[in-house]
Amino acid sequence: MTTRSGVRPGVVGEQDVVDVWNSGRRKLHVLDGALVTHQAREAAERLGVVLVPGPPPEPTVPATDGTATMRRALYRRNPKWVASDRPKGLAPRTLRKLVVVGAGGVGANTAHLVANAGLAHEIVLVDVVPGAAEATALDLEHASGITGSASRITGGTSLGLVEDADVVVITAGRPRQPGMTRADLITVNGRVVAQVSEAVRDHAPEAIVVVVTNPLDEMTSVALESTQFPRERVVGMAGTLDSSRFRRSLARAAGVDPLDVDAFTLGSHGDEMVPVVSSATIKGRPLHTVLSAAQVEACVADTVTGGGQVVALRKTGSATLAPAHAVVEVLDAIRGARAGAIPVSVRLEGEYGIDGVVVGVPCLLGAEGVLEIVELSLADSERQALVAAAEAVRSRLA
Ligand code: 2OP
Repeated sequence: MTTRSGVRPGVVGEQDVVDVWNSGRRKLHVLDGALVTHQAREAAERLGVVLVPGPPPEPTVPATDGTATMRRALYRRNPKWVASDRPKGLAPRTLRKLVVVGAGGVGANTAHLVANAGLAHEIVLVDVVPGAAEATALDLEHASGITGSASRITGGTSLGLVEDADVVVITAGRPRQPGMTRADLITVNGRVVAQVSEAVRDHAPEAIVVVVTNPLDEMTSVALESTQFPRERVVGMAGTLDSSRFRRSLARAAGVDPLDVDAFTLGSHGDEMVPVVSSATIKGRPLHTVLSAAQVEACVADTVTGGGQVVALRKTGSATLAPAHAVVEVLDAIRGARAGAIPVSVRLEGEYGIDGVVVGVPCLLGAEGVLEIVELSLADSERQALVAAAEAVRSRLA
């Protein structure tokens, strides 16, 4: 057994790594002289748990009030976020058939990450541009002699290729150009997402749909209507991306590793995004004990404008790499390969006092899609901002 602080004396085995991962931590401190088994090292690599030599730094006990303590206790990396009936050991599934519709930057990078990590037996790329999906699929397979990836990767133009998929990721649609908001794409991309979703409804009626096309919350709503799937099986990927940007921004401001930051965003994937400051921590300490109010405000602004910053620099499209990693985080949650809730866009039916609109909130995911929408304790201003985000999405759809 590891101690609560993730320190392992003596022999470090696979179960110690799994215990650390299950508790939501990503570092296992290995004391001098401890023996780390081969299986433990493999598990650490597979799960992204870093084996850190030496004891952990002395824990800091932040001066805080009971409300802040409660908020921290509800944070997603806290073991309390893990549903009580979750299996204690790890049994991540390999996806049987993953279809990525849209073989542009996000689609191709998603397929690349999935293939390299062996997350799916079969990966199918679909794109309207003749040859585009086939070329990327072949290119990826050509790497398998080096990577050893056993994933079978194919591509084509027909939406019929979604046939029998267990997960369909929709990235198809036009990306933003400089000066555009994500909402400017609502009409043009709405048609694309509706068409893809109808094909999923007809050919892959049991699939889980992960929407990436912008404007994200609105397109998730279109996919939900067009597939007529239950809300549990249609989610939008944005919160994992925005949360990663928030953690990165806070880490840079504080001069620490991104893994030392616990923070997430809720709300829409747009100007009404809600980076949650009240429960965010840096090395376990509330933000206001580490950063000034102005620094926190700058990090929030940096997070909200993160995607736009990439668009402005690239000039011909939007971000591709971080979004692909963020899709994989969602896929890993669906596969049962990660513990705890992650923020995804889902249709709310009364949760957080919001009804009948898709917006980003923390969810536990699994093989059936959304297992549980986690209702966090938020600061009043954050709760109001979440409601405002939902109303903005609703009015844009109207
Ligand atoms: C982003 O925020 C593409 O919307 C995506 O980068």
